[in-house]
Amino acid sequence: MLAGKRILLIIGGGIAAFKCLDLIRRMRERGAAVTPVLTGAAQEFVTPLSVSALAGEKVYTDLFDLTDEAEMGHIQLSRVADMVLVAPATADLMAKMAGGHADDLATTLLMATDTPVMIAPAMNVRMWENAATGRNLHSLQGDGVLVVGPNAGDMACGEFGPGRMSEPLEIVAALEAALSDGPLKGHRVLVTSGPTHEPIDPVRYIANRSSGAQGSAIAAALRDLGAEVVFVTGPATSPRPEGIEVIEVETAIEMRAAVMGALPVSAGVFAAAVADWRVTSASDSKIKKGKDGLPVLDFTENPDILAEISSLPEDRPALVVGFAAETDDVLAHATAKRARKGCDWILANDVSPATGIMGGAENAVVLISETGAEPWDRMSKTEVARRLAARIADALAPRG
Ligand code: CTP
Repeated sequence: MLAGKRILLIIGGGIAAFKCLDLIRRMRERGAAVTPVLTGAAQEFVTPLSVSALAGEKVYTDLFDLTDEAEMGHIQLSRVADMVLVAPATADLMAKMAGGHADDLATTLLMATDTPVMIAPAMNVRMWENAATGRNLHSLQGDGVLVVGPNAGDMACGEFGPGRMSEPLEIVAALEAALSDGPLKGHRVLVTSGPTHEPIDPVRYIANRSSGAQGSAIAAALRDLGAEVVFVTGPATSPRPEGIEVIEVETAIEMRAAVMGALPVSAGVFAAAVADWRVTSASDSKIKKGKDGLPVLDFTENPDILAEISSLPEDRPALVVGFAAETDDVLAHATAKRARKGCDWILANDVSPATGIMGGAENAVVLISETGAEPWDRMSKTEVARRLAARIADALAPRG
């Protein structure tokens, strides 16, 4: 719920601005008051009248509006909110924020504010992937700006890829998490999830049976305790949790790069079933049957992401949690795995087909830490996730 919270909504000039009309309704349904600010470019996409009608409040557009200054100065306007939300955050607005510009009302408010800021980026896929946008995003995250999205999908400009603004309900969930007084408030936490696909040729790949259900549940449980969650997922069948940053990857190499790019984080939970091997040189064209007899695949070991993160000299998360998927001697293998990988905790589970755990709704885990092994009853993956999130909150110091 957002009851009693005031959101200063800065609407940037992009086609996704139309989603802000629904976003305002969703925020108000949950009890928030919304003060809208439109940039000059935003007014090309939505009218102040429609925004004002939905928000039920005056819309601010002009830095030098004397009436506004007489009623409420721009410094005061920037401070009345519990959160400043920039949606859509265009490439230009992100660049101005990262560079500290203050040449219109929106950027001046962003410079003057002392309240938390969240951005919902939206732009063409090439603009999102441009190195300058990547640098700006990195600086903004370093300044403590919270980020929700963008999502991947069809774009208004006719292209496909990451750059679509998150849906209103995803943004609302991110706001609720950020404004909650949960014990993980102020902590950024990473979760890996799902299988990886390792290509053999353009149409075939090596994979495993992971559905990503446990990873998704853990990400949602951490979000519900107020953490800012970065969710790095392989091609899993489970739906992605709302209101968190989702990075979609396919291979182990891509997952490693996404994890490294997400650091620093307070805690990392490595629930992904990463393929141990990849085909050394995947074929660029479909391997044809019968031409040269049976194909022979040559394998290379994938990077062990969990082990690498656990041994980082700088940027090692304060708490690193791994999983151990075993089919026999679960406790012995998992205890050895914890030592070998250098992580703090291992959640061990038996994934033999008879248990129905891989791809199922339940899990039976043993939490292995330096103090020993603690078996948990068999329970739903959601409940395992809640218990784990609560333990992580106990282990991490609260942050203001
Ligand atoms: N893991 C990882 N990178 C890899 C392989 C595994 O980050 N390349 C992580 C998993 O996310 C999990 C833990 O390491 O948290 C253990 O994964 P598991 O598949 O159980 O172990 P393996 O490393 O594959 O070891 P083994 O083959 O001996 O079971």
